[in-house]
Amino acid sequence: MTTRVRGGRYIVRGEAVIGGSIRVSGAKNHALAAMCAALLTDEDVILENVPFITDVDSLADLLRSLGARVERLADGALRLNASGVTTCEAPTELISENRASFQVMGPLLGRHGFAASAPPGGDVIGQRPIDVHLSGFEAMGAVVTREGERFVARAPAGLTGTRVFMDYPSVSGTQNVMMAAVLARGHTTIVNAATEPEVQELCHMLNAMGARISGIGSQMLEIDGIERLRGTRARIMPDRIEAGTWAIAAVITGGELFLEDAPWDVMDALLHKLRATGATITTGPRGMHVRGSQPIRAVSFQALPYPGLATDLHAPFGALLTQANGVSIIHERVFDNRMLYVSELRKMGAEIVSTGSSAIVSGPTPLHGTRVRALDVRAGAAVLLAAMAAQGTTVIDDIYHLDRGYEHLDDKLRTMGVEVERA
Ligand code: UD1
Repeated sequence: MTTRVRGGRYIVRGEAVIGGSIRVSGAKNHALAAMCAALLTDEDVILENVPFITDVDSLADLLRSLGARVERLADGALRLNASGVTTCEAPTELISENRASFQVMGPLLGRHGFAASAPPGGDVIGQRPIDVHLSGFEAMGAVVTREGERFVARAPAGLTGTRVFMDYPSVSGTQNVMMAAVLARGHTTIVNAATEPEVQELCHMLNAMGARISGIGSQMLEIDGIERLRGTRARIMPDRIEAGTWAIAAVITGGELFLEDAPWDVMDALLHKLRATGATITTGPRGMHVRGSQPIRAVSFQALPYPGLATDLHAPFGALLTQANGVSIIHERVFDNRMLYVSELRKMGAEIVSTGSSAIVSGPTPLHGTRVRALDVRAGAAVLLAAMAAQGTTVIDDIYHLDRGYEHLDDKLRTMGVEVERA
C-alpha cells in the first residue's frame, strides 16, 4: 500500500499537448463505502478494482485497528474479513484522516449494538455535519451521546426498523443508516435518500450479501432487516469524478483523450456541459472519447446532488471556465466552502470572483505558472488542470491531497502527455 506522507510537490510544465488513452480507476467513494460494508459479516468480502489511493490505505488501517483483516491479494483485489472485530471504538487519529471513515458507525452499530467515533475528517469544504447519520441511528432505537470528542451510539437490544427522514440527501449519511438498517428488526424506509451511483452500487453489494433493499436509485429506500449477512465478491465501479477530471483535461488543453471504462452513463450532467463548451464526446462500450475545441464557450452550471453536476467536479470545471470565451456563473448547492480553489487560480491569472457559494468567471485569461497549493483533493485537481493549460511551469504544493483520490497520478499524467515531476 502507498505511504501517507503529507506535503509533496508537483512541478508541472504548462501548455501540455494532451492525447492518448487512460484507464479510469475504481471509484474512491464506492470503494470506501464497500470496505465499511465488510464489517457487516464475519465472512470474506473481496473487492476488485479498489484504487491504490491513500484514502483506501487510511480506511484499511482503521478497519485493522478494529480487529478486521484487510489485505491486497496477488491479483490486486482487496480481501476484508471482520470475523475478529475486537472493538467498536474507532481511534480518533485514524477517523480524522478521511470523512468516509465515519461510515464504520452504521455497520458496527447494526451488527454489534455499539459504535463510537470522533467526528470524521476529510476535506475542508465547509461544514460537514453528521446530524443526518445520528438522527437515523436514533430513529432506529439507538441512544446516541456525546462523550468528550466522541459520538457513542448504543443499541444493546439491537436496532428496530422504522421510517427515517433524511433532512438532506447525504451520501455517506444514507449509506451509514442503510448499513445499520440491513440488520435491524423489521422494515426501514429511508425517505429523501441520496441517489448517487455509488450509493446504488452499495445497495447492490449489500443485496448480494443477503440484504433486502428495494427502491435502489430512488429517493425512497425500502429495507427488510435480516439476521445475518454473508460474504461476497464485488467489483468497484469506475470513478466518474476521475473520468470527469481527465475529460476536462482534454478540453482545457484543446487536446483529446480516450477514457477507457469511463462510466459515461452516470455522467450526463458533465457531458451535457462539456458539449456546451464546444467539446466533442463520443461514448461506446469501452469508454468515451473527448476532444476539446477552440474557442471554448462559456457555460454556467450548478453543482447539485446526483443526477446534477457533481460537486466534486465544480473546482475542475471552474478551472476550465477560466479558458472559456465569456462570463460563466457557478452556483455551489451542496457544500458551503467549495471555493478554496478560487484564490489559487487567481494567483495563476484567472479572473474569478466568488461570493459565498457562487463564482463568476471571466475568460479567457492567459494562465501563467506560479507556486500554488492543492488545498483539497478537488481544489488540487483544479490547479493541476490549470497548470496543464498555463504558460510556463507551475509548482503545486501539498499534492498529498491529490494522492487521496487519484490513483497512479504521475503515470497517468505522463501517459496523457503532461511533463510532471514529483519532488
Ligand atoms: C460524499 C462524497 C464526496 C461528495 C459528497 C457529495 C464520500 C466519501 N464522499 O461526501 O466526495 O462530494 O458526497 O456528493 O462518499 N449534510 C448535512 N447533514 C449530515 C450530512 C451532510 O447537512 O448529517 C450536508 C453537508 O453539510 C453537505 C451535504 O449534506 O452540505 C452533502 O454532504 P454529504 O452528501 O453527506 O457528503 P459526504 O457523504 O460527506
